[in-house]
Parts: sequence; structure tokens; C-alpha cells
Amino acid sequence: MNNLDNPKIYKKLDPENMLGNIQEFSSQIENCWIEMADFTLPTHYIKHKNILILGMGGSAIGGDLVRSLVQDKVPVPITVHRDYRLPGFVNSDTLIIASSYSGNTEETITAFEQACQKTPKTIVISTGGKLASLSRKYRCPFFKIRYGAQPRAALGYSFTAILKIFQKLKIIEITEDEIKEAILLLTAYNKKLTPELGTGENRAKQIAEKILGRIPIVLGSEILSEVAIRWKTQFNENSKTISFFERLPEANHNFIAGLEVPKDLKEKVIFLILQSHFDYPRNKLRQNLTLQILQQNHFSYESIMIEPAGTSLSEMLRVILLGDYVSYYLAILYRVDPTKIPNVEYLKERLETAFMP
Ligand code: F6R
Repeated sequence: MNNLDNPKIYKKLDPENMLGNIQEFSSQIENCWIEMADFTLPTHYIKHKNILILGMGGSAIGGDLVRSLVQDKVPVPITVHRDYRLPGFVNSDTLIIASSYSGNTEETITAFEQACQKTPKTIVISTGGKLASLSRKYRCPFFKIRYGAQPRAALGYSFTAILKIFQKLKIIEITEDEIKEAILLLTAYNKKLTPELGTGENRAKQIAEKILGRIPIVLGSEILSEVAIRWKTQFNENSKTISFFERLPEANHNFIAGLEVPKDLKEKVIFLILQSHFDYPRNKLRQNLTLQILQQNHFSYESIMIEPAGTSLSEMLRVILLGDYVSYYLAILYRVDPTKIPNVEYLKERLETAFMP
């Protein structure tokens, strides 16, 4: 029996139960959707000319995912901003959503304080912290996440809260049936990925075993390009491994030119190509041609396409779940704790005590 099919290994290597958070992804979405039903927003928020989502890491990716899902239907530009200084376009016509699980992330707080001087249309999503205090100071709507986890493991909340805000402000139309169907399909898919299911039938375990010992480079286009970022960051934070992502079609104009040297790199990397049933046909063709080029250049690769069912939202959520499980199983194979991120914690502590002239 290999490691992943040994039930004892999970409790030992995962004392903070990251597995439980991954398994609760669909219930996080469901609970957040229900909790947000009573969340009210001022009617003047409906009028805006652009949208800026502030956040970092596990609290920013929800914004990327929602943006990629809806941007071809929304008449205003949506930008996800991960830095201290606010972009120059922000003015009283900008709708700002600040997302920070802890509420204490300094880049998000700094940008949010500038935003509050420029626009009266601000919203905060957080468990509390300084951002919650600022939301009281500036009297802006505050959605409190009531779910204890690592920020990245609360994605069901940070993603759904933004989706619901968009629905409430009539930025997008999304029906209750669409959400229900996505949750049902996600719950069913979860059963196919859990540790009880042996490697022979478990796609997530199979992918993790292929990655073991290699650097995963994740490629995706359109809605799955943002999911590729999620896979990459989950490999970094859960599996504690280096990982990169690339977007198609852009990668076809540069990245694939760089496959020649150093020669021994072939032994060290694996490409994961996320393929969507909703991709533009020319992007599908590009994915297949890219796979061919990888094969011709003797690189390891894995094409990842889940069974077709439901909407693009549903597909996106299932591919996120698959990636979360793969990163989790990879952590177990490397025998590292999937929850702890000592380098990130160390850096945050040092920043807090650093002297600033
Ligand atoms: C930790 C994680 C990080 C945090 C980031 C910002 O699980 O995912 O990427 O999300 O350091 O912190 P928060 O989310 O508290 O604003």
C-alpha cells in the first residue's frame, strides 16, 4: 500500500486538518451564499464605472476567479490589485472591495485607506482585524467571514462573497438554480477525490504521484488561467514546493521558446495543462499543439480535463477542488504539514517589528 492509501498517515501529517477545509469547500460556498442574503449595500453603489478588488494571496485569488468568470459579460473593467499604492484611475466612480481574511494584511489596509479618501463606494470582506475597524471608521459595509481556517482554505467564502456582491449590485445575473447545481456537482465530485478512495480510482492522488520530485508548471487559458494560479499557490503553500503558472495563449508567444536549455531541466519539471470545455476553440487547439510541443521536447506533462457537466462556474469550482486535493496529497507524499507556512509567517512577523524611518 502506498502512502496515500494508508489512512493513518493523514492524521499524523495534517494535525490542523487542512483536509477538512478542502472537503468543506462546497459547504463554505453554500453557507456564504445563504449568509450573504441579508447583506445590504447602499443603492448608490450600483452606479460605478470600474471595480477594484484589493487583496493578497489567498484573499486575492477569489477576486481573480470571479473576474475571469464574468469579465466578458460585465460592461465595466474589473481589476484585482495586490499592492500598497492605489492605481491612479481610482476616483468617486470606483467600486472598491477589500478582501483580507485576517483583516491585518498591510498592503490591503494601506491601499484601502487611500481608497476611502477617493471613493464613497467601499466594501470590506474579512474575519475582523484592522480592516474591520476601518470599515466602522469609514462606515462601509462589512461582510464578516465566520469560518476558522487558513485564509487560502476559506476560498469558498472569499470567492462567493464577491460573486454575491456582484449579483446584489446587478453587475451579473446568476440564478439560485445555477448556484445550487454548482454546489451539488461540487459535492458529488468531492466524493471522487477523498483519501478513502484508492489511488487507482482517485485522479487527485494519481496527479500528485506524477508530480512528486518535479516542479509543477501549470498552464491554463481563460477561466482556468486563474485556476492555474490557484493550483500554483496551493502547491507553494500546501505542498511547500516551487511551482509556476503560465497563461495561454500568451505562453505560445514566448514561454514555449524557452524549452531547450538547460537540458537536465526535463528531469525536474512537469507541465499540468488545465483544459476547459468552455475555452474558445482556438485556445483548445493551442492547448493541444502545446502538448504536442512538450511531447516532442521530451517533457513530462499531464492534461487535465474534468467530465463535462453544468456551467462554467461549476467547472471552475471542480477544477479548483481537484487542485486543492492534488496539492494536499503532494504535501502528504513529501511528508510536510499542509497547513503551516513558516516562511510566510516569519516574513509577516519581521515586517511587523521592522523599523521604518
Ligand atoms: C495563507 C494564505 C496567504 C494569505 C495572505 C494574505 O493561508 O493563503 O496567502 O492569504 O498572506 O493574508 P490575508 O488573507 O489574511 O489578507
